[in-house]
Amino acid sequence: MKKIPSRILFVSSESRPFASTGGLADVAEALPNELNHLGVKVDRIMPLYRKVREGQGNGSFQLSKTPYTLQLPMGGETIQAEVYSTEWSGTLTYFVNCEEYFDRSELYALPHREYSDNFSRFLFFQKAVVALIDVLGRPYEVLHLNDWQCGLIPLLLEKGILGTGRGGHEKTLFTIHNLAYQGLYPATGLYKTNLPGNFIDQYPSLEYYGQINLLKAGITGSDRVNTVSPTYAREITTPEFGCGLEGVLSSLAVPVTGIVNGVDTEAWNPETDPAIATHYKKSALAGKEDCKKALLKEVGLSYNKELPTFVMISRLVDQKGIILIGKLIEQLMALPLQVVILGSGQEIYHQWLESWNERWPEKFKGVLGYNSDLSHRMEAGADFFLMPSQFEPCGLNQLYSLRYGTVPIVNRTGGLQDTVTDYRLDEKEGNGLCMNTYSPEALLNCVQEAMSLFHHKKQFKQVRQNGMSKDVTWSKTAQAYLELYQDLM
Ligand code: ADP
Ligand code: GLC
Repeated sequence: MKKIPSRILFVSSESRPFASTGGLADVAEALPNELNHLGVKVDRIMPLYRKVREGQGNGSFQLSKTPYTLQLPMGGETIQAEVYSTEWSGTLTYFVNCEEYFDRSELYALPHREYSDNFSRFLFFQKAVVALIDVLGRPYEVLHLNDWQCGLIPLLLEKGILGTGRGGHEKTLFTIHNLAYQGLYPATGLYKTNLPGNFIDQYPSLEYYGQINLLKAGITGSDRVNTVSPTYAREITTPEFGCGLEGVLSSLAVPVTGIVNGVDTEAWNPETDPAIATHYKKSALAGKEDCKKALLKEVGLSYNKELPTFVMISRLVDQKGIILIGKLIEQLMALPLQVVILGSGQEIYHQWLESWNERWPEKFKGVLGYNSDLSHRMEAGADFFLMPSQFEPCGLNQLYSLRYGTVPIVNRTGGLQDTVTDYRLDEKEGNGLCMNTYSPEALLNCVQEAMSLFHHKKQFKQVRQNGMSKDVTWSKTAQAYLELYQDLM
């Protein structure tokens, strides 16, 4: 029998319910919790952002200060971190506090620009992780690292935070949630790492065309690398999806594997969801129509049972394919349908939503911002979910849609391809609609197809129920991660 690691540390830059900008936070909450329920001991660590502090109380979590204070070298300076902790759904969670770096309104960026010191902020976080592990007496056998904000940890484990050597005792698994974000910074920042020697010659694993690439460091420095769906694992070894790292990814000793994320089925359950108007289930869908009425009322659109409602909940960034909706908006608004979009991100897309709100007040509602409760009501109240992403490592909203009987319309890429089956190709088990290419025409074709499906009530119900029958729970996913951890041992 393969050995199970005695203790694992899950490291990520965000986690629900503490602070979140996207799907990584959903994973960082659910996976450690699920593993702990399986009896595997996993702790979690993340920065103590202002949002974490503000989220305390009201029956939720409460932070306590631990006795650990860390003095961290950052080049010539020493900066102090305090460590806080809380217990959340069975997972001990540590928070690295440093007001200078983390007491800010956002996690990574203001609407117009990234924080200019993100390199220092996340270098500091990573040093704090390694320093805390040492203070705790090195209890972890495996470190599960996520995305570029953790990319230097393998090197820091080996060299130590002073660069004088530590010996990497821990095994590392690095999960890529999105290759488009690499943490690329000028080489002049390297002195802050306190790593000895010359950058270009001695750290080829960090270097990317003369800059520091933290994602590359994580990929090349970790014992194993995986990503969040099998299709994305294949895609990222090609120039089209590799974002310049396809060569690095294709030459790894152990190829990148893909594990599809799961859904927190307690938080996302139309039978019990406290945020939605009426509960419903696969065998009794009537309540879903009430949810639709309530949603339309909430966003100021009128209900008409003949009109299908399409929704989108997303970071408003190029990846998510809003540009295709922009190209089609005149044609879409000429169809008998309603569209509700919730999101925030790039300024240009904010402007689009605002102008569409003015132009089509009866058919379109764009809501700017991050609103978790509203996102639940949209999943419950919608007929169709739009997810025409240009690329999508896994995607969670199509999974939430399946659970809520909302038919996803997706581009056939990454995790969307691995989780949504076009009902036109598989009448028995089909649960959504898939675009054949990333183009406005392919999206329009799917929307038109969806309109026709909406009026074929029996078939529509079948497609909805197929989605609701799909196993999207975390248990299979957690099991797959456990096997990866065991392989590492
Ligand atoms: P990504 O991580 O690339 O943003 P995912 O589909 O994996 O995409 O995860 C997005 C997560 O963030 C989902 O839980 C989604 O509901 C949530 N989300 C994104 N934007 C918003 C928003 N504006 N309001 C509420 N939730 C949002
Ligand atoms: C990233 C990806 C998304 C994935 C999420 C969680 O943000 O863009 O596709 O679902 O990480 O793994």
